[in-house]
Amino acid sequence: MRFSTKAIHVGEEQRDDLAAPLHQSTTFVFERLTDLELVARGEKFAYTRVGNPTQSLLEKKVAALEGGKASVVFASGMAAISALVLSAAKGGDHIISTDIIYESTHELFEFLRELGVEVSFVDTSNAENVEAALRESTKLVFLETPTNPTMKLSDIKAVAEVVKDKNENTLVAVDNTFMTPYFQRPLELGADVVVHSATKYLCGHGDALGGVVVGDSELVSKMRRGVLKDFGGAISPFNAWLIIRGLKTLAIRMERHEKNAMVVAKFLEEHPKVKRVFYPGLESFPQFELAKRQMSGFGGMLSFELADESRAQRVLESVRICKLAVSLGTVETLIEHPYSMTHRRFPNKEAFGITKGLIRLSIGLENVEDITEDLEQALERA
Ligand SMILES: Cc1ncc(COP(=O)(O)O)c(C=O)c1O
Repeated sequence: MRFSTKAIHVGEEQRDDLAAPLHQSTTFVFERLTDLELVARGEKFAYTRVGNPTQSLLEKKVAALEGGKASVVFASGMAAISALVLSAAKGGDHIISTDIIYESTHELFEFLRELGVEVSFVDTSNAENVEAALRESTKLVFLETPTNPTMKLSDIKAVAEVVKDKNENTLVAVDNTFMTPYFQRPLELGADVVVHSATKYLCGHGDALGGVVVGDSELVSKMRRGVLKDFGGAISPFNAWLIIRGLKTLAIRMERHEKNAMVVAKFLEEHPKVKRVFYPGLESFPQFELAKRQMSGFGGMLSFELADESRAQRVLESVRICKLAVSLGTVETLIEHPYSMTHRRFPNKEAFGITKGLIRLSIGLENVEDITEDLEQALERA
């Protein structure tokens, strides 16, 4: 099966109802006490905080799309990321993370420091920096590529090679939220684990929170039994069902997000009020060669910097079709100001390029002329 066929058909072979049923039940009835053995073998469900047929269908689909052996779903992207780090590292262990990342992931790593986990924030766009930061105690290297919001890339293959050279057991994880498996498959590039905020493109419609971790079966079962069960960040079956429905159109949505984003990126690049555009699909993007090698497309996210940063608020408040909102990956175009919204509390943000003039766009599926005309009139007023 190819990508879209997998998204549509994986896990749905055994039923005669075309649309997936929604299993809202929180508990599952046993015939005999020994059914517990079936639960332990993963052949029966017991309680929805640990597993449920609707959650399981979503897990099968995402694992198949990422090319992983197993997957476990969570209530949000952050629940998935925290399950991964709590399974991978304990007090005294060391984690390396991309330095510019989603603010909550950064804050989660800061919180881990309080629990005795050592964390190094590193510019992972150069694999040599990762090599230099590796220690005997490094249990996890966490990459976000492209990074949120500056779109900087890390070379997943190069990083995985330096890490595995030093220690086979150090996990390399990639937050693949921005690209989705449609454009980037980290496991094929040597990573061990992929995490997603399924809230974004996997769902695609901005109406369900969710998170996923994909990896080998042992790691996934450690997360399910060890963290999901006891910390309790289970996804609601209804949200899992909405994300299953979203996944079925992932490929065509990503194609259109990308097509629109390329037009908008080129439009902004030509605009006199715009200083710089950060979109991996532009030839002017500093890592354009890596983008072409590592990804099969460039996605729907881009950022741009205004020539006059004092005009950012005016642009953001003048749009009519684009919606001023955090989050991304929805059918609607979303515009936001990382400096004061998604990365408000990020330390030293200006040194990382998160300036007052930086605006992030999640390009939606509207007719692209309507998006560019909307941005044109907003820039005009600024
Ligand atoms: C790259 C990235 N990872 C993780 C998250 C967290 O996901 P969630 O909001 O589903 O917890 C986000 C949210 O914006 C994100 O952009």
